[in-house]
Amino acid sequence: MTNGPIEARDLTKVFGRTTAVDRVSFSVRQKEIFGFLGPNGAGKTTTTRMLTGVIPPDGGTALILGYDMRTDPVRAKQRFGVVPETANAYTDLSAWQNLMLMGELYGLSRTRSKARATELLEALGLLDRKDQKVQAYSKGMKQRLILAMALLHEPELLFLDEPTSGLDVQSTHLILSLLRDLNRAGTTIFLTTHNMEEANRLCDRVGIIRNGRLIALDAPERLKAAIERVHRVEVSFDREVSGGDIAAMEVVLSSAREGDKWRLTVEDTDIAIREIVSFARQHGAGIVTLNTLAPSLDEAFLRLTGEVEP
Ligand SMILES: Nc1ncnc2c1ncn2[C@@H]1O[C@H](COP(=O)(O)OP(=O)(O)OP(=O)(O)O)[C@@H](O)[C@H]1O
Ligand SMILES: [Mg+2]
Repeated sequence: MTNGPIEARDLTKVFGRTTAVDRVSFSVRQKEIFGFLGPNGAGKTTTTRMLTGVIPPDGGTALILGYDMRTDPVRAKQRFGVVPETANAYTDLSAWQNLMLMGELYGLSRTRSKARATELLEALGLLDRKDQKVQAYSKGMKQRLILAMALLHEPELLFLDEPTSGLDVQSTHLILSLLRDLNRAGTTIFLTTHNMEEANRLCDRVGIIRNGRLIALDAPERLKAAIERVHRVEVSFDREVSGGDIAAMEVVLSSAREGDKWRLTVEDTDIAIREIVSFARQHGAGIVTLNTLAPSLDEAFLRLTGEVEP
């Protein structure tokens, strides 16, 4: 068996009485974008910090590019880049100076640092602001700079912890399109997010973590399909109908009143529509609105993480 660039094996981290990460295992394949998705406090950052050698695991192993992060982190770190959850550039230096400093840390030649810095600043829309002190940067500009700093040494593997969280549309767009370009050029990417839509658009595979446990791992479409087996229909009538009568329809799995609408969970939308139409006729009611709803990604996510019942 060949190892992927990231091999998490039974990773575990305990803080006091909280098991922040509980025997999490997965492999990230060469050249894929792997999304690590979960709600607040799920253990995304803790996992990322163990993978990148910031904190040691209490159990299990993180193998990065073949190196055990517990015993051999230095060589791995030369070959991967990290955008942590909270990162800081030196605010009293300019973006350019920060990048040159980073180049020195990685032992790059001045010429290579300059060429690479120019290229990254250009791609991230920061070139014309490169000599300004970072303290004058907006949040989105700072985050773009942090990304440029993580990429200066041309890592083959990149970790990002919620890289677009709280950013404006333009920064988000610049960051995501750079990630796509890098990935096309062969960079493997691991990113955490709680944005299902982002994961769906960007990632080849997605792992879902909740309460420290990895609860699902698959292609985003397959995760979506898995929860789409149950559909929703929203209907309103031009007169009162009883909840009991609604619930008694064979196709209805569950029903709830929301304003003047009924929200129904059904197994098959086609059958549901036919049954609702004949229900209305039988009860002498007219249908005012009738909508079928595929579960939104947020809903999908909440269901997968068990926060709402299917
Ligand atoms: N240094 C620490 N000391 C104590 N508890 C911690 C520490 N770091 C994390 N935790 C706890 O571990 C759990 C997982 O936290 P973590 O930061 O990994 O979650 P997350 O998925 O990154 O959440 P978010 O989406 O809010 O960033 C939480 O219960 C958190 O309170
Ligand atoms: Mg986090």
